[in-house]
This record gives sequence, structure tokens and C-alpha cells, in this order.
Amino acid sequence: MKNYTSINDISDINDWIAEAKELKANPLQNIELGKNKTLGLLFFNSSLRTRLSTQKAALNLGMEPIVMNVSGDAWGIEFEDGTVMNGSTAEHIKEAAAVVSQYCDVIAVRAFPSLTDKQKDESEQILSAFVKHASVPIISMESATGHPLQGLTDAITISENSNKKKVKVVLSWAPHIKPLPHAVANSFTQAMQKMDVEFVIANPIGYNLNKEITKDTPIYHNQEEAFKNADFVYAKNWSSYESYGEILDVDDNWTITKDKIGDAKFMHCLPVRRNVVVEDAVLDSENSLVITQANNRTYAAQLVLKKILENV
Ligand code: CP
Repeated sequence: MKNYTSINDISDINDWIAEAKELKANPLQNIELGKNKTLGLLFFNSSLRTRLSTQKAALNLGMEPIVMNVSGDAWGIEFEDGTVMNGSTAEHIKEAAAVVSQYCDVIAVRAFPSLTDKQKDESEQILSAFVKHASVPIISMESATGHPLQGLTDAITISENSNKKKVKVVLSWAPHIKPLPHAVANSFTQAMQKMDVEFVIANPIGYNLNKEITKDTPIYHNQEEAFKNADFVYAKNWSSYESYGEILDVDDNWTITKDKIGDAKFMHCLPVRRNVVVEDAVLDSENSLVITQANNRTYAAQLVLKKILENV
């Protein structure tokens, strides 16, 4: 594997999950693989889990991670071709990506969408520019439209917490005070479509995700109906895709409560706003998998790095 920028880069999700579980059981088994290799982590946006778990994954493989907050600490990067750079940007991505490629054997990038320009966001301007202009493999640590490390993590977590052959998984929209990207929901949807699970999405009218992502996944606008017989409820807010980036005026209360989900396991990628997205009683219950998910971020990243290192 050269790059990992989408759930579509996973060849066989069951094989990948099995391998991730092996890494989790013995995290230092490939400690020599990344010796004398450097992972560069470039953050255009904030992070806690991705920043730490991806570094931990690199360390477990013997790699040296180096981290940069690009937005705050680097020169402003220009992504448009042919621009007269007499504005706020001081360095073109052509030079920036080529330079970082000399310092790093693998580059991981986090770059969120604007949520104001659908076409530009869907072109994945920043991630695509690194893929195009870097000479080393690129990993997405969440881009405008996808969070494939999170999606792989969630697939691993569901697999290791399933106690029957075919489980029902519900991705439920939940409220938030700010317009949020579609990336986590998109990658979770793509991961579930690759697994042998019954998968449905619940969201208010006006919040359907991109049809090219959801494909024929059933979409409910009635949360209670969607939650019937659910084994896993994955909560996530996203802004409207149709009215791009907007928060719509929806009357229904979609906050996840213990009453609503019953005995289903609860999942969220974190960070989560307590008692807005989900009530305390769910997060503080034994059925919450959010801390396990965060732990599995390390093994998802480690698996991706391992597959890339085996190929360089
Ligand atoms: N889930 C996740 O990506 O967390 P961070 O934004 O803290 O990295």
C-alpha cells in the first residue's frame, strides 16, 4: 500500500481487523520495522487522539515521529497553481511537500473542510496536493470528506465487542452547537458497508449524507425506529450536506439517552459534548465504548503504518 487516504484503501477489512487485533495483543512485535524511519505529522487543525495515537503507533514500530502544527507554526501555504503569491501565503505546496518529503519517510496530514465551499472541500485540495507533490507515502489523519483511521478503528472496536454473528449497527446524527464536517460519518458508513453487519443511518430530514457515500444504506428519519434491536449505536453530529455546512432548525430532540438505546453499546469518536450529543448516563455506563475506541486508534494507525513500511 502506498497511501492511506480513504476506507477504500482497505483491501479486505476482515483481514485488516484480524491483523490489528494481533498488533494490539503484542504491540512491539514489529519494533525493528520502522528503525531509522521518520513519520511527519502535519496538523492544519486541532487534535488530541489522532495526534497522540499516531505517534504512539509510530513508536511501537520503532519510527521517530515529528509533529508540526502547520496552521500556527509554518509559513502560510499556497495550494492554487499559477497564483501570484502577493497575499497572505508565503510558500507553495510544491516546495513545502517536496521539502518535508526529504525529512520524512511517511507524511500524515490532518486538514478539515471549510464547510462553505462544497466543490473545493470535495476536491480534497490539501490532502490531494500532498499526494501529488510529496515523494513519500501520505496518510490522512482526517481530511475534508473522510477520517479513515477513525473508520478502521471503529470497525476493529465493533468486531472485538460483537457477541453474535451478525450485529445491528446504527449511525445516529446527534445535536451540536457548531456545524461539523461529514468526515467521521462518511468513513464509518464506508467501513460498515464493508463489514458483515446490518447497518442503518438515523438522521433528521435535511441531514442525509452524500448519496455517493450512503449508497443503498437504509436511512431513517425516526430515531426510535432505527434503534430497534440495535447492538451498537454510534453517535455523531454533522452539518447539512444538502444545505452545505448549515445547521438546520430541527425540532426533534436527537440527543442520545439511556432510555433510547437500552442495552446497545454506545460509540463516539470523541471529543464529545456531554448532555448535548449524549447524556452522562450513557457515557458513564458500562455500555460506552468510547475509551476503547480511543485506545484502538493506536492499533489502526499502527496497522496502516506497518502496511506502508512493508511496501517502501
Ligand atoms: N477522534 C479524533 O479524531 O479525535 P481528535 O480530533 O482529538 O484527533
